[in-house]
Amino acid sequence: MRIAVVTGAAGGMGRAIVARLLADGCRVIGLDIDDAGLADMATPGFVGRRIDLTDSAAIAAEFAWIATEFGGVDVLVNNAGTCFMSDFPNIPAAELDRQMAVNFSSAFHCCQASVPLMLGRSGVRKIINISSNGAYNFDVFDPPHYRASKAAMDTLTKDLARRYAREKITANSLAPAMTETPLFGVLTAEVLARAIAAMPHGTAMQPSQVAAWVGFLASDAGDICSGNVIILNQGRDVH
Ligand SMILES: NC(=O)c1ccc[n+]([C@@H]2O[C@H](COP(=O)([O-])OP(=O)(O)OC[C@H]3O[C@@H](n4cnc5c(N)ncnc54)[C@H](O)[C@@H]3O)[C@@H](O)[C@H]2O)c1
Repeated sequence: MRIAVVTGAAGGMGRAIVARLLADGCRVIGLDIDDAGLADMATPGFVGRRIDLTDSAAIAAEFAWIATEFGGVDVLVNNAGTCFMSDFPNIPAAELDRQMAVNFSSAFHCCQASVPLMLGRSGVRKIINISSNGAYNFDVFDPPHYRASKAAMDTLTKDLARRYAREKITANSLAPAMTETPLFGVLTAEVLARAIAAMPHGTAMQPSQVAAWVGFLASDAGDICSGNVIILNQGRDVH
């Protein structure tokens, strides 16, 4: 059975990704800071683990535990993230640091910890990073520290794809636009309405739709795809 690790598992996108990977036959370890959220996800095949992913030592310890308990990792989904909304130039230094820590450094450290656990396992192993359209579309609201955190993630994706191609570890980013999750709560009603109206289908995307792409990349079909940033936005930015 394949072992999958999903960060931000208790969030809107995370829950859908966990459900997708469980349905596809993976054993799923969900990492999140939200204890209560993880607790109400209890289901066969799922193990929820509370962790603050801004703590690199905690990440190292967590993956050491995973190695002992499960013997390795086949799929890593770096999904934990948030969007801080202070706007340039009035972004406090601590908010910039936290944005990079939650969105980028967490993924970086999870990749560092999981690649050694992927090496030598059978099949093609997968790193799937949940990026954002915000790194590429400058018409929408996203502040620059959020955009930069996701652009950094996508550069990590490409580096790892190149670095580990011959070890049969793929790395790809999925970059969704407006997806209906609790993260919508960071937006004012007016900004949210304008952003949804800009979606070509006139609706936000659903977490299960993004999760289906995670499932596809994690499946055998995804074996031949690496180093890509896949934009999911209903075709909004095709001009
Ligand atoms: N919702 C969207 O429209 C959208 C669009 C593009 C990209 N994304 C990305 O999708 C990913 C998932 O977001 P979501 O929409 O499901 O948001 P969400 O707020 O519902 O979920 C985020 C999860 O990450 C967890 N988390 C945050 N900080 C953490 C930390 N320090 N340690 C451990 N866990 C932590 C939260 O507890 C939460 O469960 C994020 O990376 C986000 O940037 C979302």
